Amino acid sequence: MTHQEIRKKFLDFFEKRGHKIIPSSLLVPEDKSVLFTTAGMQQFKKYYLDNDSPYGNKIASIQKCLRTVDIDEVGDESHLTFFEMLGNFSFKFPEAKDSYFKKEAIKHSYDLIVNDFGVPLRRIKISVFKGDDKNDISIDQESLEIWKSLGIPEEKIFFGEIKDNFWGPTGEEGPCGPTTEIHIDGIEVWNIVFNEYYCNKEKHLIPLQRKGVDTGMGLERLVMVLQGSKSVFETDLFSPIITELRNKNLYDYQSNQKFERIISDHLKAGVFVISDGVMPSNLGRGYILRKLIRKIMRHSKKLNLHDDFLQRSVKTIINIYKEYYPDLEKNEEKVLEVFNEEFQKFEKLLSREIPKIEKDVEEFKNKGYKFIPGAYVFNTQSSIGVGVEIVQDIAKEKGMEINMEEVKKEEEKHKKVSRVSQDKKFIKL
Ligand code: SER
Repeated sequence: MTHQEIRKKFLDFFEKRGHKIIPSSLLVPEDKSVLFTTAGMQQFKKYYLDNDSPYGNKIASIQKCLRTVDIDEVGDESHLTFFEMLGNFSFKFPEAKDSYFKKEAIKHSYDLIVNDFGVPLRRIKISVFKGDDKNDISIDQESLEIWKSLGIPEEKIFFGEIKDNFWGPTGEEGPCGPTTEIHIDGIEVWNIVFNEYYCNKEKHLIPLQRKGVDTGMGLERLVMVLQGSKSVFETDLFSPIITELRNKNLYDYQSNQKFERIISDHLKAGVFVISDGVMPSNLGRGYILRKLIRKIMRHSKKLNLHDDFLQRSVKTIINIYKEYYPDLEKNEEKVLEVFNEEFQKFEKLLSREIPKIEKDVEEFKNKGYKFIPGAYVFNTQSSIGVGVEIVQDIAKEKGMEINMEEVKKEEEKHKKVSRVSQDKKFIKL
């Protein structure tokens, strides 16, 4: 099944069950307290509260998302920065006649995964919230019973603590609640949230009179399990990009798998973020974009990729997605321009300074250092302009770490010794 077919099956399934299909919102959310859109429910957050939804109380969408919390995990089988989230949502239960809660939400997910997508039960495990004494929330017995009634054997259902089976809020405050998750082949694929509480700024949970459902299923992970791929990078959402990187046979694929994965993920994230209006800068969203682009550059050098890989890969990415996000094609020129400008800015630093740092880190390692000395890290930042993150990345690649305490102490020391400004002309990466 192609990703196009999977998208269609998902949307058709919910449309048939009375859900209004809503297009993805931008990656830059309305909510000022978050940098990027990280979940499908974000654009509907207000409908869980007092605002009435103009679309009725049942919605489904495929939402572009960007999350940087897992950025260091990118390169393994399933973690990404940019991804799409398939979701169905329900508001104002039980007051609104067209709303639903646990029973229908779980039944829908079971029907779609088991009956429509045909995933055999032996590949499925379920998690349910075990409750939390501190917040006085009891075990989610209702979800457990619903799963059992659908034929999931009890030994396939496990209980998760608040850190794993309770979701939200996004931003400073908002709806949140216990979750039940579908895991396929050990990978968490679908998160079903029951919004039963409002979490206020003081982090108190207040029970909601009108409850809601918010589900999120990572498209890339679903495609991976349905296409029987070993990783998200071997699905039709990624393989054209990887093929493009390998096009000129410039590097050894086996030993560089991690880097080609990081490049393809970050490129994709960059294309979408720029297309949604973000420009590289030293602050907030722009800073994240800048970090992504600089990482692409650093790794692309390792793979001997020449600058023309950029244009070809950006085109490939746009081709995969243009049917769903027509803006990408309109913004292609702009996207390339931003990438190219940023590449030029970083080029000097990259070709002169980064190889030196890589060599130094290697030497620290050979000399038996456990950590890169704080003074060294401080110096690369303040006098060369290469920020802690980049040194940290290089250190990690070589199996070492930075002692951040020591770096902070160095910074303090230098602030005291001289009141020399922090060399603002240098970009901290
Ligand atoms: N909001 C939940 C999540 O992001 C479910 O959609 O996982």
